[in-house]
Amino acid sequence: SSVVEDQLDPFLLVEHELSILTNRLRSMVVAEVPKLASAAEYFFKLGVEGKRFRPMVLLLMATALNVHIPGPPSDAVVDALSEELRKRQQRVAEITEMIHVASLLHDDVLDDADTRRGIGSLNFVMGNKLAVLAGDFLLSRACVALASLKNTEVVSLIATAVEHLVTGETMQMTSTSEQRCRYTAILGSFRVSCFMHCDYFCCSMEYYLQKTYYKTASLISNSCKAIALLAGQTTEVSMLAYEYGKNLGLAFQLIDDILDFTGTSTSLGKGSLSDIRHKEGGDRGCRKGGGGRMAATRHGSGGDDGGQWCSRGGEEGIITAPILYAMEEFPQLRAVVDRGFHNPTDVDLALDYLGKSRGIQRARELAAKHATLASAAIDSLPESDDEDVRISRRALVDLTHRVITRTK
Ligand code: FPP
Ligand code: FPP
Ligand code: MG
Ligand code: MG
Repeated sequence: SSVVEDQLDPFLLVEHELSILTNRLRSMVVAEVPKLASAAEYFFKLGVEGKRFRPMVLLLMATALNVHIPGPPSDAVVDALSEELRKRQQRVAEITEMIHVASLLHDDVLDDADTRRGIGSLNFVMGNKLAVLAGDFLLSRACVALASLKNTEVVSLIATAVEHLVTGETMQMTSTSEQRCRYTAILGSFRVSCFMHCDYFCCSMEYYLQKTYYKTASLISNSCKAIALLAGQTTEVSMLAYEYGKNLGLAFQLIDDILDFTGTSTSLGKGSLSDIRHKEGGDRGCRKGGGGRMAATRHGSGGDDGGQWCSRGGEEGIITAPILYAMEEFPQLRAVVDRGFHNPTDVDLALDYLGKSRGIQRARELAAKHATLASAAIDSLPESDDEDVRISRRALVDLTHRVITRTK
């Protein structure tokens, strides 16, 4: 690749700092009980650390918002202060990643997944109970690290993001269109009028976008804001950092949802809709692996909990933007969606409609709109002539393009 491209490669720009952060994460998740220790460190081991997308964004944001602390050039006090600030911002990146991994551990239990990051998921390898405990453990370690920052506003932002993860995950389990519409109706006056006058498509889309914000965008957006607050930025700048994270996260999830229909399981490293259809009727008579946005409900017991856990009705409502747009074009699809995809032929039927519709294209356009909003937030930051600041901002803008053009 060209030199220019490499200069903007977001991961290369923070490569060194990311590896330090990865090591710190490893030391932060050490537990005193051996069983818990091996569960907690599972996804922090070499080769399965994941993309570390969130820390990468947050470190770039930290540089992008760099303010020059006034003082004489090369003043030792000034240097010490900016070094201290950077450390605190790195803490936020570590906390964010730890919360993310905790949510993945719990998610894999809820989804009864068997793989994650190309290896066995923790619930699959050590059972549901330990996977839940390991997630709780990571969350509590993240809380301790958060407290050590001694900034109540930052604590509040991150705690809200955790609440949003839980809310978004629960919203995803709400399967009936009636329940979804009732939710959108209580959101606010605009949505009340939407509920009363506009159609099914409108409230389904509202619900989907709200759920997506909670599940995917809230953590990164609130963390971006925390980075800005730690830097002592104004409310305006903090909001721009928040807007960047929010719109980047939304664009990312929209593309993720598109790839669930168009991607293959080898390129994604996780299940996609196409192989879920082949997995039907697996060992426990349930569909496993997660990822399928239209996967029929999983009736199986998860892991070692003796079969008390049954997610009947859990997954049937996961219809995403492409299908929602297809439904707007082909109202007949609504009846199919409302049946909840218990029947594999309904999955095929929905895919046929999707193929005939502009659903994928319109979802891409929506992703592009959010990518544009994200890059506009960066462009609205107060000007800076610092070279590092400019490079980081360009990389953040460039990232919005990478997100919408990615194929895996
Ligand atoms: C992945 O979704 C999961 C999430 C983005 C969040 C899950 C959140 C919880 C389970 C709530 C608990 C939160 C904490 C902090 C303990 P996915 O199943 O669509 O994606 P996948 O294909 O990667 O599994
Ligand atoms: C797993 O996260 C998947 C999800 C939480 C749902 C979709 C989200 C993304 C694809 C990335 C989120 C984007 C932003 C801007 C925060 P992951 O793909 O990050 O998992 P990893 O940690 O294993 O790489
Ligand atoms: Mg899930
Ligand atoms: Mg999952």
